[in-house]
Amino acid sequence: MFEKDITRTLAKKLGKTYKEVEGFLEQPQDSSFGDISFPCFVVAKEQKRSPSELAAQLKKSIALPKGIENIESSGPYLNFFIDYSSLAETIFQETRRKKSKFGHTNKGKGEVVVIEFSSPNIGKPFGIAHLRSTVIGNSLSNIYASQGYKVERVNYLGDWGTQFGNLMCAFQMWGDEKELKKNSIRHLLSLYIKFHAEAEKDEALKKKGKEWFVRLEGGDKKAKGMWKKFCGLNLKEFKRIYHLLNIKIDHTIGEAFYEPMLKKTIEFYRNKGLLKESDGALILEYPDLPPAIVQKKDGTTIYLTRDLAAAKHRRDIFKFKKMLYVADARQTLHFQQLFKALEIAGFKWARQCEHVPFGVMKFKGEPLATRKGFIFLEDVLLKAVSKVESIIDEKNPSLGHKEEVARQVAFGAVIYWDLNSDRVRDVVFDLDQVLNFEGDTAPYIQYTSARLSSILAKASPPRRVDSFLLNSQEEKKIIGSLAKFESVIWDAKMHNKPHLLTNYLSALAQECNNFYNKHPVLVNEKDLRAARLHLIFAARQVLINGLSLLGIHSPFQM
Ligand code: ARG
Repeated sequence: MFEKDITRTLAKKLGKTYKEVEGFLEQPQDSSFGDISFPCFVVAKEQKRSPSELAAQLKKSIALPKGIENIESSGPYLNFFIDYSSLAETIFQETRRKKSKFGHTNKGKGEVVVIEFSSPNIGKPFGIAHLRSTVIGNSLSNIYASQGYKVERVNYLGDWGTQFGNLMCAFQMWGDEKELKKNSIRHLLSLYIKFHAEAEKDEALKKKGKEWFVRLEGGDKKAKGMWKKFCGLNLKEFKRIYHLLNIKIDHTIGEAFYEPMLKKTIEFYRNKGLLKESDGALILEYPDLPPAIVQKKDGTTIYLTRDLAAAKHRRDIFKFKKMLYVADARQTLHFQQLFKALEIAGFKWARQCEHVPFGVMKFKGEPLATRKGFIFLEDVLLKAVSKVESIIDEKNPSLGHKEEVARQVAFGAVIYWDLNSDRVRDVVFDLDQVLNFEGDTAPYIQYTSARLSSILAKASPPRRVDSFLLNSQEEKKIIGSLAKFESVIWDAKMHNKPHLLTNYLSALAQECNNFYNKHPVLVNEKDLRAARLHLIFAARQVLINGLSLLGIHSPFQM
């Protein structure tokens, strides 16, 4: 709130850009030097004068920016002192008025953003590695929606492709109808794994798998029937897990949906003169990227072909301003080829498409490959739940709604663990770490908010508040942080990075802990107590709202 105004005021006065000034601003270690300071060295040098002279002159000549109660010059520094009490008052009013909408804005009003995320390959079950796209995409969708964008959440199922040919081939050889009925997803997975293991040694098997896919694309009845059955069984499981994790999806439209449009798509690119024949296959050539196949030698289509059709179809139905693809960083080249193809085909909106990549989930240094072993997301979730349940049984056995709280805390821990590092970095899956609920974790933040709730259950903040009473370091820190909430959400949106929000929330939770460990809220002094109640009411609301944008619930008690 206040930083923006300071930056603008200084930029105008000094004839600098907003960005330049923003880069100079610092937070003094010692608060007796203010809350924000502007070191004058660089600008003074440019103006060929001494930094302290510039600082003194600025102090005299600039008007107080909004939310600032005092400006002082101290040697080469210009120091700004925040008016905490008016800032606090604004925040308290706003949190009470907007409640679960505090931090939300209307900046994106009228703009449609398509966010494609999760998009699992449903030839196999929901593995832990697919958590990434799912929770990053879900959280980005919440973040955009909170800023007024109309978000269309699309799940682009991997429900087509050679993998289905392989699965059919495997089922023909080793499948068991009874087992499929009883244990569907585990049975399909075992077939998937067996096929890959055997195909590594046996080229003929690989060929057979491909032939099954050719049959499927050719509309063969038997192949289609099997495909439908396998997709149905796996999809049912996926839906169950989305429901469990409260992941909202507006449109489930998989690759198979585009199958009937592919001939036309290929024709379109051919007519534009963009396709070349190479060794029986059709390829797209680019000036600055490696060529990409759109139709294979055997006449079957490919991942890219379906993406070309899907992008155009989504543009037609959603008229989006922006479309995000939340997908693995290993697919970067694929998306470059996709966007470039759309661009050279003359679609202006190609520039509005963006790949939001994330790092690989590794397991003891190796990428988590399905073929070598499989970790079911649900198994991890259930382990987390049972760990939380045993902690509750030990520490708070009389807690109400135990099951629900255990689920909220356990899922929160797993989701937060994934979101808590910059998405572009690889993550190493380590169950002990996922199930560690201390420190920078969702349970820590949830616990902080539940503690605030328990105080607020004893006394609610009265109407009147003398916020100038909140003058300790700890209280000011919280007020300063609360004021930043909206801009943190915006930054997370600008960079498509939910970890900016996790970092913010864990720092705020820490500040709340520092505060209530030192300053009791329910003191006898009426006014002080009122002010502190307002402070924790606002802080709790921000913790709850922030977690909710990440897709995490906050229990009132735990
Ligand atoms: N189904 C793919 C996978 O699991 C991800 C899809 C990414 N999105 C796309 N439009 N290609 O690897």
